[in-house]
Amino acid sequence: MSEYAGAEEWVPHEGGMRKVRAVLADCRGCDLWEDAERAVAGEGPVRSRLVLVGETPGDHEDKEGHVFVGPAGRLLDRALEAAGIDRSDVYLTNAVKHFRFELDGKRRIHKTPSAGQITACHPWLARELEIVKPDLVVIMGAVAARALMGPGFKVTQHRGEKVELPDGGTAIATVHPSAVVRSQEFNRDLGLFVDDLRAALALLG
Ligand code: URA
Ligand code: SF4
Repeated sequence: MSEYAGAEEWVPHEGGMRKVRAVLADCRGCDLWEDAERAVAGEGPVRSRLVLVGETPGDHEDKEGHVFVGPAGRLLDRALEAAGIDRSDVYLTNAVKHFRFELDGKRRIHKTPSAGQITACHPWLARELEIVKPDLVVIMGAVAARALMGPGFKVTQHRGEKVELPDGGTAIATVHPSAVVRSQEFNRDLGLFVDDLRAALALLG
């Protein structure tokens, strides 16, 4: 049993994405709502063939209320463009909807959500996937992998491979764009990330 109630009781199973977006902020499925500014909903067309799943909103996303608008978002934009994918054609979301951080003076330093928080938030992601029904999910990094594939799945072992999601559907795993931002071998790792996005596009056919 987790220490958290989990999001399920807040997740609407009728009313589509508009309803999801309208009630996401009410969620008390774990403790992350307490310190974050807001819940950040996924964005993009609900008819997208491709869903990209990141980790959690960061400092910028928490303040602005949109996914991937900070440094990781700029990297992602650049990689998507290089791969020939239009950001406005994809549905972009996170495995966990509230920002987790530690204070360092006034700075809010990102902290990876715990296994319990990832599990607690999963019903939101599951509902988004149920609504969008994408042809392919791109798993970006370890937190998204844990949310979608469970604890045994290692992105480093499976990146670029087509995998079946336990809940149904097809996915491909890659790194999180933040890992590329921080990389000591930036050009190489950007190239590999773009290769994975190209592989995703190729799987769409
Ligand atoms: N990192 C994520 O995983 N998601 C965002 O929205 C921003 C940074
Ligand atoms: Fe609910 Fe997810 Fe926010 Fe936790 S992180 S309060 S489960 S929306």
